[in-house]
Amino acid sequence: MSAALIDGRAAADALRRQLAIHADFFRASTGRPAGLATVLVGEDPASAVYVRSKIKATEEAGMHGVHRPLPADTSEAELLALVVELNRDPGIDGILVQLPLPAQIDAARVIDSIDPGKDVDGFHVVNSGRLAIGDPTALVPCTPLGCLHLLKEQLGSLSGAEAVVIGRSNIVGKPMAALLLGESCTVTIAHSRTRDLAEVCRRADILVAAVGRPEMVRGDWIKPGATVIDVGINRVPGAEPGKSRIVGDVAFAEAREMAGAITPVPGGVGPMTIAMLLRNTLVAAHRRAGLALPKGL
Ligand code: GUN
Repeated sequence: MSAALIDGRAAADALRRQLAIHADFFRASTGRPAGLATVLVGEDPASAVYVRSKIKATEEAGMHGVHRPLPADTSEAELLALVVELNRDPGIDGILVQLPLPAQIDAARVIDSIDPGKDVDGFHVVNSGRLAIGDPTALVPCTPLGCLHLLKEQLGSLSGAEAVVIGRSNIVGKPMAALLLGESCTVTIAHSRTRDLAEVCRRADILVAAVGRPEMVRGDWIKPGATVIDVGINRVPGAEPGKSRIVGDVAFAEAREMAGAITPVPGGVGPMTIAMLLRNTLVAAHRRAGLALPKGL
């Protein structure tokens, strides 16, 4: 059997078209566009590419994107002062400080300083706490939110499913597990110390791999017919010398023979992350403006 491909690019494009309609409505209702500010400290080329694509997507959706680059030797106090300024700016609904930050800056302190109502990454403890208690006003991290969207599109109700999440990061694993629990799945969080990881994975109807290890999840770890979501983005040496290619945390060709549906890498979860950032920005904007959330947002 060859699994169905879950097309994250198509799902993200469809979502972004919907969000553009909501963004127009927001602008018409309030007389201003929803606004997202991105902050990048230093010149890491990969981070610069990510941030550029976030601002471009924001503008394409009819929202206002502001990029605030800072030099690599910026002090923590200087970055905190910028966050305070953005917290106070009435035209800014979402603040994203691109991670990782240089060594002289404590990322936890910076995340803590962001107004939770503008925390469109969903990294602030207020938002992770709200997610943990099932409060629907939580702003939820974009990657797990994107995974959940793909799962619901593929499967409809997730209620009663056995879900295994590999990875326990605050950015993906933990919020993913909380979201699946919220959908009434039976959830296991596995990680690098899990004994008999393959056996744990074999019971999953839904398997989410977010470990950052290239092709770690093998075909024979997958229950026949399972839905597999691969969050990994790993650069590995390519077939030709000097070339590289991107692979996920799942050995795709093997897994495709076992799974019922699977996300490819690239083109699976990746495009959903930016779409969910736009969604979180619009949600934050509606809340800040005292507007009810439109259906489907
Ligand atoms: N660095 C890599 N991915 C992300 C993300 O989703 N948010 C932030 N703030 N930094 C990142």
